[in-house]
Amino acid sequence: MSTKSLDQSGDLYDYIVSHGSEPPDEVLRELQKETEKVGLLARMQIDAEQGALLTWLTRAFGVRRAIEIGTFTGYSSLCIARGLPEDGALLCLDVSEEWTSIAQRYWERAGLSERIELRLAPASETLEALPMEESFDLAFIDADKTGYASYLELLLPRMRTRGVILVDNVLWNGAVIDPAKVDPDTEAIRAFNDQVAEDPRLDAMMLGRFDGLTLIRKR
Ligand SMILES: C[S@@+](CC[C@H](N)C(=O)[O-])C[C@H]1O[C@@H](n2cnc3c(N)ncnc32)[C@H](O)[C@@H]1O
Repeated sequence: MSTKSLDQSGDLYDYIVSHGSEPPDEVLRELQKETEKVGLLARMQIDAEQGALLTWLTRAFGVRRAIEIGTFTGYSSLCIARGLPEDGALLCLDVSEEWTSIAQRYWERAGLSERIELRLAPASETLEALPMEESFDLAFIDADKTGYASYLELLLPRMRTRGVILVDNVLWNGAVIDPAKVDPDTEAIRAFNDQVAEDPRLDAMMLGRFDGLTLIRKR
């Protein structure tokens, strides 16, 4: 099979990001700069194009309640929150007080902190404690890779029918097709991808942009 996707690095990437209706504002740009100071781990942050996609999907699906698993310094949460209506709500799950304290500062700066609630605990514990009600319209999974399969199971009964679950890093820098890569994260993502592709409860497609993003709709 062949692809029609272009190489989108450099100037073309800047062109793409600047031609959305909401390119990154000052708050997002400054958050990206501050996150760079974290060092190598700054690579965990989603990029501007993916952020624009999150905002767009949140709006396009009329999302009122969203949940994010893996907040880090807050870039993706800001992008989801800005796509919500004023009375919308985003629940953020993470374990790091250090990183999410940065996120909280930027939620304030963006005037979005009223829409966002943070729960600091392992995501599986927070999810298990949530009521078994179909309450979320959109979920973004971007935390520890070995937890992906259980996060999906815990989320499904809490998602509305036709609710959308977005899952990041499903290509794991290409490692998913490299038989030499057998570390726990790669194995977990491979198993997760296989499971999603065959799951009759889900309507899923894998987008080959970013580090791979799977878009799932609960049937
Ligand atoms: C890839 S980063 C998230 C990046 C973020 N979505 C962004 O765009 O900036 C992964 C995050 O998952 C968090 N994390 C790791 N293990 C977790 C767990 N068991 N429960 C909840 N969060 C976890 C880490 O603390 C980290 O902030």
